[in-house]
Amino acid sequence: MRHYVKEEIESLEKIYRLNLINGISGYKPANLIGTVSEKGITNLAINSSVVHLGSKPAILGFIIRPATVPRHTLENIRKTGVYSINHVHLAFTDKAHYTSAKFDKDVSEFQKAGLTIEFLDDFKAPYVKESEIKIGVKLQEELKIKSNGTYLIVGEIQHIYLPEEIIGKNGILDLNLVEDVCISGLNTYHSVVSVAEYPYARPGDFPIGI
Ligand SMILES: Cc1cc2nc3c(=O)[nH]c(=O)nc-3n(C[C@H](O)[C@H](O)[C@H](O)COP(=O)(O)O)c2cc1C
Repeated sequence: MRHYVKEEIESLEKIYRLNLINGISGYKPANLIGTVSEKGITNLAINSSVVHLGSKPAILGFIIRPATVPRHTLENIRKTGVYSINHVHLAFTDKAHYTSAKFDKDVSEFQKAGLTIEFLDDFKAPYVKESEIKIGVKLQEELKIKSNGTYLIVGEIQHIYLPEEIIGKNGILDLNLVEDVCISGLNTYHSVVSVAEYPYARPGDFPIGI
């Protein structure tokens, strides 16, 4: 068993530490954040930190790293107040990953990565046509994480688009049907196998009676 202590983690070689610490939180969702600049240039960036914050109101969060280098996604969200979150599927993990390259502000990652821009229902942010699950989100809050200067972007869901056939009983989604992928570390994409589905857990319900 390998045991790392804080001081050792801090003194690890940079790339080693990046990989280790980015992997240690476990599997993460794979999403593409779609935005548009004031000038109308679309932007797309892969993101592995989208998190559910609450269902009433329906709010999602995601982490954006500090603006020490230009962050087009953050700039665009601040200016327009909207963004889209698009699930990544098995068929286009390569294209999704490529959106993380540092392109100039006047270059659209949609075009560079070969993904298709889709505008729906007058929402200002672009969606990814190839994505089967698309969410239109309105910025609510931008919270600075004091510990490292990153931002938690909090937004309220305005629109959800997804195939009827993946919506099961009581709204439970079958993400396997659209071959959703997840991410580990900084650059590994995984297919997911579902292993069980349980009812709402209540004390005393455990199957082997513990
Ligand atoms: C697998 C993966 C996950 C990523 N997740 C995040 C993330 O959660 N937050 C973030 O700020 N950047 C994340 N990035 C980096 C952004 O995709 C990258 O900085 C991108 O160039 C930002 O584009 P922008 O300058 O157009 O906003 C991730 C990159 C990869 C490859």
